[in-house]
Amino acid sequence: MKAWTSADSGSLTLSDVPEPAPAPDDVLVAVEAFSPNRGETFVLEQAAPGFRPGKDIAGTVVQTAASGHGPHVGERVVAHLDGGGWAERAAVPVDRLAVLPESVSTSDAAALPLAGLTALRLTRATGPLAARRVLLTGASGGVGHYFVELAASQGAQITVVTANCERSQRLLELGAAEWVAAPSDARGTFDVALDSVGGASTPAVLRTLTSHGVLVWFGQASREAPTMDFFDWTGGSSATIRKFLYTDDETSLADDLAALVRLTADDRLHPEIGLVADWADTPRVIDSMVNRGVRGNAILMLPPQHADAAAATSAYDFR
Ligand SMILES: NC(=O)c1ccc[n+]([C@@H]2O[C@H](COP(=O)([O-])OP(=O)(O)OC[C@H]3O[C@@H](n4cnc5c(N)ncnc54)[C@H](OP(=O)(O)O)[C@@H]3O)[C@@H](O)[C@H]2O)c1
Repeated sequence: MKAWTSADSGSLTLSDVPEPAPAPDDVLVAVEAFSPNRGETFVLEQAAPGFRPGKDIAGTVVQTAASGHGPHVGERVVAHLDGGGWAERAAVPVDRLAVLPESVSTSDAAALPLAGLTALRLTRATGPLAARRVLLTGASGGVGHYFVELAASQGAQITVVTANCERSQRLLELGAAEWVAAPSDARGTFDVALDSVGGASTPAVLRTLTSHGVLVWFGQASREAPTMDFFDWTGGSSATIRKFLYTDDETSLADDLAALVRLTADDRLHPEIGLVADWADTPRVIDSMVNRGVRGNAILMLPPQHADAAAATSAYDFR
């Protein structure tokens, strides 16, 4: 089958790779859509040749798990993998997927896992958000759109930081209260601030906090480590500064994925798809993401019935 693999110094090549070998608790999925994340682009930059990227996929089960657990052949699923998902087929552990109802499209579903899990779990990390003033940097990305919709539904009053006003329009529709171009432009003080830009953004965000505010740092899109001067008493004088990693959460991946799917099906969460392209265009799409050209998530689509897949899947046991 075909899969994207790392070539030299971060470049990608569409290669012939062996078919997946599912473990007893894995289903085999014909991948129909996948969504790259910024963090994955960082990993790609340093990946060894032959590395198989790809965490967020959606598609159709073509072979059940040998253990008997999990979804049946023909069911559509979304999954969050450790890698290897930018491929025609993927072996998916049954505890890393959620089954899709008819109302959730495969392309919307592919945008849910990493960005949605991060946003959902950030709302747990911040603590209650009702009537809290919240500042969010990097808000026009995948995580930002989900976080704004989830936090606004809890009653948060959110100020979003995006590169320009145009990139904030959808966030305002999803419930953000205000847009600013930089943390230093924000008026008033904030109970909670979330920073995913790093560099100069993190100390600027700290300065916007109330004296006992909370800063949750969860990313470094600028690729620059922040430098903090704790003698700067401009804001957040007794603030809590918290690191966040989306994998550190007590709720299981499967339960949170199912919650994201349920919220989407109920019209309470709306994946923001900034770009849809054929999977042959993966390198171009990643370039655009890296250069801040995509709002929300980008989706790469595989042809659902292409000849190779039909030939390969005809060998599967469809019982
Ligand atoms: N800690 C965790 O567990 C965790 C989990 C997921 C993601 N992350 C991190 O969280 C961040 C957001 O993730 P995401 O998937 O939402 O990313 P994304 O879709 O690429 O969005 C990131 C946004 O950051 C903004 N940005 C500001 N300064 C930037 C710069 N110098 N270079 C590039 N972008 C810049 C861009 O918006 P504007 O152009 O509008 O400013 C961009 O839309 C990333 O850094 C990611 O690595 C962390």
